[in-house]
Amino acid sequence: MDIRTFDTPEAVSLAVAARVAEALGARSRVVLGLPTGRTPTGAYAELRRLHRAGVASFARAMTFNLDEFAGVPPSHPGSFRTFMEAHLFSGIDLPAPHIHFLDGAAGDLDAECERYEAAIAAAGGIDLQLLGIGSNGHIGFNEPAEALVARTHRVRLAESTRRDNAALFGGDASRVPHEALSMGMGTILKAAEIVLIATGARKARCVERMVNGPVSTQLPASFLQLHRRVELFVDAAAASRLPGGGAAGEEPRSGSGGSKDPPLRDGP
Ligand code: F6R
Repeated sequence: MDIRTFDTPEAVSLAVAARVAEALGARSRVVLGLPTGRTPTGAYAELRRLHRAGVASFARAMTFNLDEFAGVPPSHPGSFRTFMEAHLFSGIDLPAPHIHFLDGAAGDLDAECERYEAAIAAAGGIDLQLLGIGSNGHIGFNEPAEALVARTHRVRLAESTRRDNAALFGGDASRVPHEALSMGMGTILKAAEIVLIATGARKARCVERMVNGPVSTQLPASFLQLHRRVELFVDAAAASRLPGGGAAGEEPRSGSGGSKDPPLRDGP
């Protein structure tokens, strides 16, 4: 993994947005994989600014979001589709037909997952996949478990993940759906390039385990060690448990596996 450490979350956001803008400019047609969550919102705001400034155009891009809550229609205020509209899509020139999303309200959720896999394949696969990371090491909604599912699938959400998403449902974790749809780890690992963003001290432990721990289904993000082109954009707080301790610097460093600590488990 190439690790790029910055002093602040704001600096991380600017660097990630610049990385995406570079990808948009480098080829005529780019397929982006996108996360929701608090972490990417700064980068999305900067991408909107770059678009307004005429520096970034999404006119020929396509997007596939990682995940969506089950039982929640796209127009629901708590849906990830609504989140993306507010934070990114409404402020850029991405044509609506180029936006791809899992439909949490689909009648047959298993068929919906298969439809999504086929749509990604028909688009030629994902060129650049942006990711956040859950405090329990989840990626998309691939939660720590005895086994992971490779393809897009239905998933039962961990209680910690439901609490983390309460803000989308009026601050009430009990209103967060128990189930979601998510790209699988195999779907994610098929992306040509991956950029993972992590900021804040809350992410320091899972970042350390992702970079240096053993590859384990109990820490889904650790599977990124198996991918050749992963860039990790972190602030000093999230990098504080890495060797070098979060000293800012854009020079890529490489992580290696081999920690003997037990895998990170979901919090209480
Ligand atoms: C959501 C997603 C999740 C988040 C993760 C971190 O689409 O992919 O894996 O990236 O839960 O969320 P934040 O950024 O809110 O800490």
